[in-house]
Amino acid sequence: MKGIILAGGHGTRLQPLTLVQSKQLLPVYDKPMIYYPLSTLMLAGIREVLLIATPEARPSFEALLGDGTQWGMQFAYAEQAEPRGLAEAFLLGRDFIGDEPVCLILGDNLFYGSGLPAQLQSAAQLTRGAHVFAYPVRDPERYGVIELGDDGQPVSIEEKPAAPRSHYAVAGLYFYGPDVVAVAETLTPSGRGELEITDVNRVYLDRGELAVTVLGRGVAWLDAGTHESLLEAAQFVRSVQARQGLMIACPEELAYRKGFISAAQMDQLAQQLGDNDYSRYLRALVASE
Ligand code: DAU
Repeated sequence: MKGIILAGGHGTRLQPLTLVQSKQLLPVYDKPMIYYPLSTLMLAGIREVLLIATPEARPSFEALLGDGTQWGMQFAYAEQAEPRGLAEAFLLGRDFIGDEPVCLILGDNLFYGSGLPAQLQSAAQLTRGAHVFAYPVRDPERYGVIELGDDGQPVSIEEKPAAPRSHYAVAGLYFYGPDVVAVAETLTPSGRGELEITDVNRVYLDRGELAVTVLGRGVAWLDAGTHESLLEAAQFVRSVQARQGLMIACPEELAYRKGFISAAQMDQLAQQLGDNDYSRYLRALVASE
């Protein structure tokens, strides 16, 4: 399974923060936002990742993340000149995807919670069809909305419906078989001029190939696309980390715990970061083993 992080867009709702800086590089408490979706892919066991950014922001992402070898990962980069829709990720990523299944995650989505690693690892076993995650929200009209039957199977899926048929939003994390590229090729832009991920998911629904997992109360799904939600995400991370003494979305920790890098490599990473809370955390992890 390969991974794509879609981190383009103008970040219009966050201006002036995003006038010269990509939204997905802004801090969420103590880490760049992009660390959070990246860690979600790592938790799923995905090691080959394509990062899609605007042409202006791409060099900054490359400077931050490099080719991934420092974390036992492989990173590639692509550019999206204009935000023409989430489903364009599969067209931009056509060569990267090849004939493998792929997971798409939005660069401003943060997932955290009990049972999530197992759910992610299980979803990453997918070889065909599609698998999405439903999350109960108070304001479903802002999202892709999925309706589930009594048996938990999906019945309908709509993008930002004025009259939502359920309170389940479709989260920004999607797993597909390799044919998702062919599905994306058949799409035409929606009323808002975008290639809609919801239209991709509807193709799989109509084929009877859309699996849905409902994320329960034990899981937090946050996006960080507005000033309010960015601050809320930072406060959430700060509270959990302060209470537990464990970091949310620390790629070095995940790489180490998953055996992608050795203790010696972890030490080296800590050294490169200089003396601060983050590097002390990395050193303590190695010392506690
Ligand atoms: O957050 C989940 C929701 O994401 C889903 O429930 C919806 O079905 C899906 O369409 C999407 O909703 P939005 O329309 O609200 O997404 P937004 O335009 O905010 O874009 C999500 C992120 O992806 C954002 O950080 C910007 C980035 N993006 C967006 C587009 C349209 C890109 O990188 N390229 C794009 O072309």
